[in-house]
Amino acid sequence: MSTTPLTLGPRPTDPSVDHEIQSIVAGASTAETCNTDLASGPWNFDIRPGYGPGASMGDVIPTGAPRQGELPAEYRTASDDELHARIRAAKATLGERVVILGHFYQREEVVAHADYLGDSFQLANAALEHPEAEAIVFCGVHFMAETADLLSRPEQAVILPNLAAGCSMADMADIDQVEECWEQLEEVYGDMAAVDADGLVPVIPVTYMNSSAAIKGFVGRHGGIVCTSSNARTVLEWAFARGRRVLFFPDQHLGRNTAKAMGVPLAQMPMWNPRKPLGGSDAGTLADARVILWHGFCSVHRRFTVDQIAKARAEHPGVRVIVHPECPMEVVDAADEAGSTDYIRKAIAAATEPTTFAVGTEINLVQRLAAEYPQHEIFCLDPVVCPCSTMYRIHPGYLAWVLEALVAGTVLNRITVPADVADPARLALERMLAARP
Ligand code: 13P
Ligand code: SF4
Repeated sequence: MSTTPLTLGPRPTDPSVDHEIQSIVAGASTAETCNTDLASGPWNFDIRPGYGPGASMGDVIPTGAPRQGELPAEYRTASDDELHARIRAAKATLGERVVILGHFYQREEVVAHADYLGDSFQLANAALEHPEAEAIVFCGVHFMAETADLLSRPEQAVILPNLAAGCSMADMADIDQVEECWEQLEEVYGDMAAVDADGLVPVIPVTYMNSSAAIKGFVGRHGGIVCTSSNARTVLEWAFARGRRVLFFPDQHLGRNTAKAMGVPLAQMPMWNPRKPLGGSDAGTLADARVILWHGFCSVHRRFTVDQIAKARAEHPGVRVIVHPECPMEVVDAADEAGSTDYIRKAIAAATEPTTFAVGTEINLVQRLAAEYPQHEIFCLDPVVCPCSTMYRIHPGYLAWVLEALVAGTVLNRITVPADVADPARLALERMLAARP
């Protein structure tokens, strides 16, 4: 792994991160990647326990995480051109029977086949809008496919082309740890359903969309709500109208950045570490808390630093720095703006004068925006090419495999949320959809 920072590079003309990594590995580019293994197909890593190469490779994968079986050899050995032709042919045969959703962080070679490109919230809505499709192929990660299953019709099959496409942040809060945390909080606050003189319960649980359906179900059962990075403030306002404090998981950074912007003092935002009694806090601190932050983070957004921002400002006077709110607080504070993937995209699209943008989010989206808006100079704050290792698991080989199986009448890799979890999880999502600023 390389650690030497590069001079912030020129705007790429080819948006493909795969091509860039391949040219680094071939010695044709002077850029650096966090792992040269990224140049080969993800099937080389799927059968091993771990998140594989990329930004989350150091994270500990939970023992129960789904594993992807071996991809048949014909898909592993096919050329890019052959895979693209096969995907196109399968899509043409399936017609309206299938809809392909692609997240902004997907590789270009997959996005090329998506019917919709968007953030997790927009893609969940796209699933809702296609009741006619028999199958929804979700090119994203596991929690997004679960959400699509919750919002789509029961007969529709939601397919995740590679089961190893999890999310290391979502995996940082498992349902047993969350239940255990709730029991400990009950000992501190008493009856969690009892309202005080102001009509507030002691704690409202709020989960980021990036969490398992089991966590969304927990939140739904306990009067809580889901949020995304684009509506986190509205959702926290909803929660503070009903509860004295919020338990926020799994992303400490989104929770802290949002609550801080609302004026909640840092001293009233203790962290909950699930491996420590009382989360590593104490009853006095918890009594005074407004937001209890689960000890989770995104390894992609944790790579961004205040030093990178200082370097961008020194090398590009007038640069506009936009980062995702999953970045640490110091980075958000040093940036000019922070917002969801869709916010970043819209901010760049709305710039009328040629502008230099330094962006703190996943590299696939940044490279695509750079190619889409050649009138601006757009680069990733992190000079090392290091994609999200779980988004990277979706490759055209897997997409061709699940589509050709559909043509042959077989549904592979279906993601189904069990009914006992689905009902309360849907309730938590519906509360989010109904929440208004
Ligand atoms: P969005 O909700 O913006 O799609 O982000 C998902 C994600 O994984 C961010 O890291
Ligand atoms: Fe999860 Fe981070 Fe990857 Fe998003 S970018 S899917 S939060 S690991």
